[in-house]
Amino acid sequence: MKLTIIKVFFFLVILSLASFSLRRNDWLAKSFEAAEVQYTHMLQTNANLKQYPRSYHNDTVPTYTGINDWTGGFWPGCLWYVYDYTRKNKWKDAATTWTESLEANQFNTTHHDIGFMMYCSYGNAYRLTQNPKYKSVLVQSAKSLITRFNPKVGAIKSWNEFKSWGSGKVYNYPVIIDNMINLELLFFASKVTGDASYKRVAIKHAEITLKNHFRESGSSYHVVCYDSISGRVLTRETAQGLADNSVWARGQAWAIYGYTMMYRETHDHRFLNAAIRMAQFYLNAPTLPTDQIPYWDFNAGQPGYKANWNYDSQRYSPAPRDAAAAAVTCSALLELSTYTSAMLSKSFFNRAQAMLKSLSSPAYLAKPGTNANFLLMHSTGNMPKQSEIDVPIVYADYYYLEALLRYKQLTKNRPLKF
Ligand code: GLY
Repeated sequence: MKLTIIKVFFFLVILSLASFSLRRNDWLAKSFEAAEVQYTHMLQTNANLKQYPRSYHNDTVPTYTGINDWTGGFWPGCLWYVYDYTRKNKWKDAATTWTESLEANQFNTTHHDIGFMMYCSYGNAYRLTQNPKYKSVLVQSAKSLITRFNPKVGAIKSWNEFKSWGSGKVYNYPVIIDNMINLELLFFASKVTGDASYKRVAIKHAEITLKNHFRESGSSYHVVCYDSISGRVLTRETAQGLADNSVWARGQAWAIYGYTMMYRETHDHRFLNAAIRMAQFYLNAPTLPTDQIPYWDFNAGQPGYKANWNYDSQRYSPAPRDAAAAAVTCSALLELSTYTSAMLSKSFFNRAQAMLKSLSSPAYLAKPGTNANFLLMHSTGNMPKQSEIDVPIVYADYYYLEALLRYKQLTKNRPLKF
């Protein structure tokens, strides 16, 4: 009798833990269901492998970019993440087709974004298939990327030129904080070839960026321009943020993500401490809304931050959000929470979870059949250029799906409290 009671008791405990865990991941499963609906429509809407889904004209019509644009790899990347979750061949086939459409980009040396383009597509393809063909495309991509490294500067040149909003002056060695994400490709190339020269470039770039790109507060400048002969810093400005002294939300997100990745790849505590400082700036920012999704610039509408371009703050009040910055930060914080001490880890994890839940709520996650087949609403691409304001953008979807998968992995064995 006593044994039966004990057995029943344990059965009930296991049942309630299982149902708790099912409920816990219910919203996560729903997000992937939504992705399956939206992306099925996207594949039906556009079979042209020369146009990569990027944002939208309106609720039903997506916009596209060509193969040279920095965002081409995100669409295949999204498809790989849906395959990763569902393991359905339909998604693997679509991801493969779209990934392989980018093959010519392995020789692209016209900007630094080859890391975004190729690691989000071919990187995921190789991770999930181990196809050696993909490995050689990635190594060639890394070779192309390091052609833009100048040892005198110690950094990869991001764009070929940058025209200052304030002075109108044109600089020809701009490095942007976004560049940190392209470094992951270089670590991959060193691992698979045994040639350390790729990762040496990545480490040098990260060191120089750490030295020159950050303020005391842990916040990031967007653009630092160098003199390519002396290696000297010429100016620190913004391209996509509000002002040179403001904090562009997605720039800060790239910084957190980039230095977290740098710590993963090097175990160098300088990079871990940097990632923590940058994350703390973001999380403690007084202007971060309670739903955890930042305005497109942390200083939008704040006194003391004046745009050098024509910003109509009346028109944008309240300031538009950037769900993409939140998705990038959320994914980074989930990883960062696995490298930090217990207290920090808990706080990073909880904040990432809050971001993920916000993004998964109807306030940001589009109703299937709307939003031109993208998942997330409310991202801001380039406010100074008046481009893609408060719209879906493919990279928001990519980092959101990545964050969901990271969350699933991290919560696999532990009951969590909400
Ligand atoms: N250039 C990358 C971005 O717009 O975030």
